[in-house]
Amino acid sequence: MKYPIIFDTDPGVDDAQAIAIALRHPDIDLLGMTTTFGNVDIDTATHNALLLGELAGQPVPVAQGSACPMVKPRHPAPKHIHGDNGLGNIPLPPVTGQAESRNAAQFIVDTVRARPGEVSLVAVGPLGNLAAALQLAPEIVNLVRQVVVMGGSIREGGNVTPVAEANIFNDAHAAQKVLTAGWPLTLVGLDVTHRCILTPEHMSRIEAAQGSLGRVLAGSYDFYRAFYRDALGIDGCCPHDSVALAWLVRPELFKTTRGHLTVVTEGAAEGQTILAAEGRQFIEPRWSGTPLAQVCLEVDGAAVSQWIADTLG
Ligand code: BDR
Ligand code: CA
Repeated sequence: MKYPIIFDTDPGVDDAQAIAIALRHPDIDLLGMTTTFGNVDIDTATHNALLLGELAGQPVPVAQGSACPMVKPRHPAPKHIHGDNGLGNIPLPPVTGQAESRNAAQFIVDTVRARPGEVSLVAVGPLGNLAAALQLAPEIVNLVRQVVVMGGSIREGGNVTPVAEANIFNDAHAAQKVLTAGWPLTLVGLDVTHRCILTPEHMSRIEAAQGSLGRVLAGSYDFYRAFYRDALGIDGCCPHDSVALAWLVRPELFKTTRGHLTVVTEGAAEGQTILAAEGRQFIEPRWSGTPLAQVCLEVDGAAVSQWIADTLG
């Protein structure tokens, strides 16, 4: 396997599809999942992570993490997008497994320390678990292979406010720590995920090929699709979290730029991600004070959607 990963997630319809990819793709070795509040409450997130591994016939360790943001009160879960149960309110079978006794941050630290330079962290929910892991063991900055964050928006605008994307908005203080930690980080935000559309035809292929897992993915997709029809006027869905895995495995489908990231933590622009391009001098120096990171700004969206359908179809 080329990419051993920890998948930090708040499942969530698009998270569920990404989990299926992480379990099925031959180049990805899913070492474990860490869960966070976000699309759902933390217990539901952990339940869904366990369930999806079991439905795939590939249970992996699941470690429970953040139940709320680091500083501000929790924003209500987006039940109109993901349903009360995070999977489009479809009936779900029972779960047999249990979460790890270790919490998410400890699981991340232990796993990264055990395989220095090998493990990629792929985070597709609010970033409290990664922030807690950094606090527990700051040296992991130099031990991870890379960090991929589905979150933020540089030019596209937001999906929770005019400027803020949901994962960053839901815990902007954690995001500020994670995006400025100085580890090798790539931001996969709305600039690229909004260019990728998974169509009902793609989804039918996935449903037909993935057995009971495919039925859950397709059933939850139907609910999620209604939101995209109303919000963006498209017949299909943006597979946000799967795009982070596409970046990991197929980076040639993306165009990136480097610069210094800042997350706005207070006020009307709370949750906005701001990029100061590498080498650009500003009169006010504060925007260029953080370590360099990489940001995806363009993508071959059709190729990414095809990659998702081919991986699961
Ligand atoms: C992100 O927010 C969540 O609702 C999705 O699962 C995705 O991680 C998109 O803004
Ligand atoms: Ca997510």
